[in-house]
Amino acid sequence: MKIQRIRGVKDILPNEIWKWQYIESVAHKIFPRYGFNEIRLPIFEDTRLFSRSIGDTTDIVEKEMYTFKDRGGDSITLRPEGTASVVRAYIENKMYNPPSVLKMFYMGPMFRYERPQAGRLRQFNQVGVEAMGSPGPIVDVEIMTMVMEFLKELGLADIKLEINSLGSQECRPQYRELLKTEIEKHIDQLCDNCTARYQRNPLRVLDCKAKECGNVAEGLPKLIDHLDPASAEHFAEVRSLLDSIGTPYSVNPKLVRGLDYYNRTAFEVTSQNLGSQNAICGGGRYDTLVEELEGPSTPCFGFALGLERLVSLIPFNESSDLQKHPDVYIVCLGEEAKSMAFEIAHQLRAKGLSVERDYEMASMKSQMRKANKFQSRFTLIIGENEIRSGKLILKNMDSGEQKECTTEELVSEISEPEVDTQ
Ligand code: HAM
Repeated sequence: MKIQRIRGVKDILPNEIWKWQYIESVAHKIFPRYGFNEIRLPIFEDTRLFSRSIGDTTDIVEKEMYTFKDRGGDSITLRPEGTASVVRAYIENKMYNPPSVLKMFYMGPMFRYERPQAGRLRQFNQVGVEAMGSPGPIVDVEIMTMVMEFLKELGLADIKLEINSLGSQECRPQYRELLKTEIEKHIDQLCDNCTARYQRNPLRVLDCKAKECGNVAEGLPKLIDHLDPASAEHFAEVRSLLDSIGTPYSVNPKLVRGLDYYNRTAFEVTSQNLGSQNAICGGGRYDTLVEELEGPSTPCFGFALGLERLVSLIPFNESSDLQKHPDVYIVCLGEEAKSMAFEIAHQLRAKGLSVERDYEMASMKSQMRKANKFQSRFTLIIGENEIRSGKLILKNMDSGEQKECTTEELVSEISEPEVDTQ
């Protein structure tokens, strides 16, 4: 039997990698403007890290983690998200007392055993950021604004920033009880999943995707009407700061997020063009997680973006300059030309130029066809005549113009003029 890739994972092929590299380059451009530095973390961790941070009653921990015993008998989990690992690294490496808020970003694969469908994979990639050490609300607003700037730079239209406040330990326990009481009145109208979990996690009924739960949720009390005074003030400041710099947003009182570590500001960026899995980005404030994982009290704010969803939304121009093409394609005819092509390719690459060539000594016509397919900027033609005269033919593939040049002249003919960046 032919072995195939596992359900819910994707290959990112060489002909589409430029899209990923472009997104990554924009992250490397925009995030440092706000003081973020990259951090690279392990892909697997001690299982307890995720169950303690994401929450035992969340879908992720209850049914979506890739957990296994390693050969030493330890329980290991492939990371379902990045925040827990960043917090673990922060504590383990004692990254305390930075000169200002500690800001880090990361990119890489995450793993969740979800039911695969359009926009939902079992291995997917995120780019995420975490800012550690400020209770906000300025950090909250700066970071949400940064996401919107990042997505705008990538050419995304029709996206919406939705915000909510999840309050704090002061107001949430009473609200949960109130919510449970109200949900019980509609228990026969809920989906099976919510019926089973509302006692443990009543807030999830609010953002359940099942239509019947959506109808019930409309009539349930809203957490933003039951916030403790400090959380209410925080939320009012977040809104006023967003207004002051003109970042458009809407308040979505049903937004609760699927991970338990959040408090106060929570947000998502959604697109109508994504179908039912419409969140490109989700995040918020998590002020108690560092302490819960036995670090010093450190209020934090962060988000993660789903890269597969992002790639599917960006209106890429398939003939874009972002696609890498060789500087030159070498066409060679005859044995002597073949060894000359070998030497020239070596010399040009050593000078920093990218070179493709024919390896099979196909006919001139077929080699020229390949040159076109590679979309090289130039084609260099080496045949018997050219070897005899010492003059090679260099064809500019854009203009169609051909010129004769010596091997010494090649580098300067092919090199692109320096772009003045001033
Ligand atoms: P999350 O909402 O679970 O948050 O994931 C963030 C984004 O990852 C989603 O908005 C979505 O675009 C993408 N995503 C999630 N699951 C899948 C999937 N199965 N297939 C494809 N894409 C997916 C977090 O992960 C938090 N750690 C975010 C955060 C950082 N909060 C604070 N700091």
